Amino acid sequence: MDDTQSGAAVHAEPALAEYEESFAATIARDQRVEPRDWMPDGYRKTLIRQIAQHAHSEIIGMQPEGDWITRAPSLRRKAILFAKVQDEAGHGLYLYSAAETLGVDRDDLTTRLIEGRQKYSSIFNYPTPTFADVGVIGWFVDGAAICNQVPLCRSSYGPYARAMVRICKEESFHQRQGYELLMTMMRGTEAQRAMVQDAVDRWWWPSLMMFGPPDGNSPNSAASMAWKIKRHSNDELRRRFVDMTVPQAQKLGVTLPDPELRWNEAEGRHDFGTPDWDELTRVITGDGPCNEERVRRRREAHEEGAWVREAAAAHAAKQAARTREGAAA
Ligand SMILES: [Fe+2]
Ligand SMILES: [Fe+2]
Repeated sequence: MDDTQSGAAVHAEPALAEYEESFAATIARDQRVEPRDWMPDGYRKTLIRQIAQHAHSEIIGMQPEGDWITRAPSLRRKAILFAKVQDEAGHGLYLYSAAETLGVDRDDLTTRLIEGRQKYSSIFNYPTPTFADVGVIGWFVDGAAICNQVPLCRSSYGPYARAMVRICKEESFHQRQGYELLMTMMRGTEAQRAMVQDAVDRWWWPSLMMFGPPDGNSPNSAASMAWKIKRHSNDELRRRFVDMTVPQAQKLGVTLPDPELRWNEAEGRHDFGTPDWDELTRVITGDGPCNEERVRRRREAHEEGAWVREAAAAHAAKQAARTREGAAA
């Protein structure tokens, strides 16, 4: 070997195989992958899809409950609801920031959402006709979000996992405010109790669908689990949610609308019926009760907010110019 060759070997970039090996070792050791680390394309794409979808869900999720802010029955309920909906906006923003660490642009993600090229959680395509819906969304939807998201605090991608820690703390407040609201209604009049039961009947199955299709039919799950982005399967998380919710329903005094729901002593968990997967497919592909309205309102809000973004950009440019002048002086 002459000198030139050995010199070249010393300065050569690590081979792709070495990057792959070091990535696999990071995952195997349960360490975090950070934005500057090398990662396989599939890992990056999966994360972008999942985090963007999650961010969109937080933002679109403001709508069904936001509709009740102006009609909340008391100042106290209005303040709680307002804080909750505002939290969801914050969750969306953290998550868009987490997605940006993977090299995508938030503007581009928003465009993909309002053009229907990226999805958000199917649950937000259902209507909220009564105030009991606000309580049931907190109890079921935020409760399901907690089941889904607590394991994501250990997700292999650092910025996503860290965003989840704060988000989960806030989701826990959301779930409690919903349950407390329902408790209050259940102590009220017969009509209020009926309103709670009606909302439970409408939201139960769509909430079970939030965990996604059954494991045998969930194309992205296997890779996500191997990469430790996701820690538990859809069916496993769905079962946890059912086990967590059944005693809460008993305490509240409502019936969950599933005749097959019963305690399985041998397995130490609940058996329950099968959600209508055709309905989930319809809602995911755009044909739910409120899909059109949700996306239209998001698009309108984006268009109406154009002047704010332009003003912020102009302000930032002016500040940057001032800093440059200051440095030159
Ligand atoms: Fe949230
Ligand atoms: Fe929430």
